[in-house]
Amino acid sequence: MCGISGYIGKNNATKILVENLEKLEYRGYDSSGLCLYKNKDFKVIKSLGSISKLKEKVKNIDEDFAIGIGHTRWATHGKPSQKNAHPHLSNNKKIAVVHNGIIENYKQLKNQLICENFFFNSDTDTEVISNLLEKYFRTNFIETINIVLNKLKGSFALAILNKDEDKIYFAKNKSPLYIGIGKDEVQLTSDISTFFGKLESYIILEDGEFGSVSSKNIEIFDKNMRKINKKPIKLEKEYKNTCLLNEKYYMSKEINEIPNVLKNELISLNNLKNKIDKNLFLNINSIEIIACGTAYHAGLMGSYFIEKNCRIPCHVFIASEFKYSNPILSKNNLYVFISQSGETADTISCAELVKNFGCKTLAFTNVEHCTLNNIVDFVIPICAGKEVAVASTKAFTCQVFAMLFFSHILANDYDEFYINNKDVIDNFYIENLLGNFYTEILKFNKIFFVGRQGDYYSCSEASLKLKEITYINCMAISAGELKHGSLALIDGSTLVIVICTNGLIKEKINSNIEEILARGGKVALFTIFEKEDFCDVDYYFKLKNYNDEFNLISSIIPFQQLAFYVSLEKGYNPDKPRNLAKSVTVE
Ligand code: AGP
Ligand code: GLU
Repeated sequence: MCGISGYIGKNNATKILVENLEKLEYRGYDSSGLCLYKNKDFKVIKSLGSISKLKEKVKNIDEDFAIGIGHTRWATHGKPSQKNAHPHLSNNKKIAVVHNGIIENYKQLKNQLICENFFFNSDTDTEVISNLLEKYFRTNFIETINIVLNKLKGSFALAILNKDEDKIYFAKNKSPLYIGIGKDEVQLTSDISTFFGKLESYIILEDGEFGSVSSKNIEIFDKNMRKINKKPIKLEKEYKNTCLLNEKYYMSKEINEIPNVLKNELISLNNLKNKIDKNLFLNINSIEIIACGTAYHAGLMGSYFIEKNCRIPCHVFIASEFKYSNPILSKNNLYVFISQSGETADTISCAELVKNFGCKTLAFTNVEHCTLNNIVDFVIPICAGKEVAVASTKAFTCQVFAMLFFSHILANDYDEFYINNKDVIDNFYIENLLGNFYTEILKFNKIFFVGRQGDYYSCSEASLKLKEITYINCMAISAGELKHGSLALIDGSTLVIVICTNGLIKEKINSNIEEILARGGKVALFTIFEKEDFCDVDYYFKLKNYNDEFNLISSIIPFQQLAFYVSLEKGYNPDKPRNLAKSVTVE
């Protein structure tokens, strides 16, 4: 999931690469590195941990470099360590490679190279690429790259330096890669937001393309070694700085932004409502939603709204399961993809699969220039603004709100939806209900989130949030399912957090609470209803009652706050949980 960057031009490559890597850090932050090039020589600097550590190291470099490549890593093959950090050099130290992706056949390639006396300094899959380039290099490096690419299986965005040339070579397959063009300078990146405010235009590279950039010339080849001309696209978007202002963490900043982003979202969705291509959902039999992680939970909530409001069958799939389940595709279904980043490899590969089959596709994304937007027929932007913290908060609420909007567009009752939600959103603010409940949590060694229907989907998201940034082992269970097995886990050391915003199932939830209490479990109830409506619970929190649908959007916020405070209490950085990355660009 790493981020790669390349720089060639008149400015200080070291400084620019580090700045770019800081912006790409959301893609991985377990280690980072640079390979700087001057006078047919490389200077390699690597560092374990976040980019700030690399920044410290490069402070001591007093010479200027005009060419370099950089990498911020999220380990797939080999532990996060100095030796596994990129760039990876060939045995003869003449070729340096940074890589985002996975080389699936690396083991065979590595064994073959070892038989030919190549040695390996790292445990990564990437190192086979630099050694294969060394092995096949005769005179023309671009031909060598073509030969090597034909041997690789998997995903890659590559930036490559060859000691004999003042150029950066590149190649792309299934991982994003862009070329940015400025005055006398060219850059490569995994995410074009690193170009904003700095460069004039950019080129989107497609799978199978490879080539080279120098400060004056860009050469791109297709799979058949044919040179191709790609017209650069003007970079129009203003660079919006996403600084922390007075907040210490992005996660709390992003939670606190929810009321404002929802206001903006309603305005933009209102502007969009007449532009949605109605052919997309004309005569459809069912809606199939595909997503990962938090976006999958937004999809579950979306299916609840769609089936309730439109009575159209709706199914939700985890992208990594859908792709390999030999899915029964139909041109009479609408396939909906939800992704904050629009770069999630699992989701993208499903979108490609159904698109190639000729199905209708729609995406809900939060990033204007993302891979997913280029695949689907229509995009509904969720307008959450840049989300930096790895744990998704404001994007989730915006995804769910956009799904609610979509269900009412489909149900042909948009005006009613608008009236029901306009005032609610105008007056919506975030309260802190929790008091010192976040410290209570630490007394328990098992935590379950329990609810029914839409509340169960909130439970799933609440549980993911807590595990993601506090490393507490917790899970969501549909309240009615408890008695079918999980009740066996309930004892005095168990905290069951119950969410109830649905009046139709209040009594059923109350019975489930009784069942938990009868087995010695402790219960924390979060509900829009009165305390007296339920049996005596250990902790009671009154959620504000907006309307049935909006309650499912607002009720997640206390659990985002809860995860945040518990994470701080445990001494962690909630913005950068261990082992994770913001954008998951590998399968
Ligand atoms: C959310 O807190 C997670 N970090 C993660 O589950 C995320 O939602 C998932 O990786 C999907 O990302 P996407 O929305 O960018 O596709
Ligand atoms: N597979 C490479 C590694 O483990 C790159 C990882 C990635 O892009 O996530 O170093």
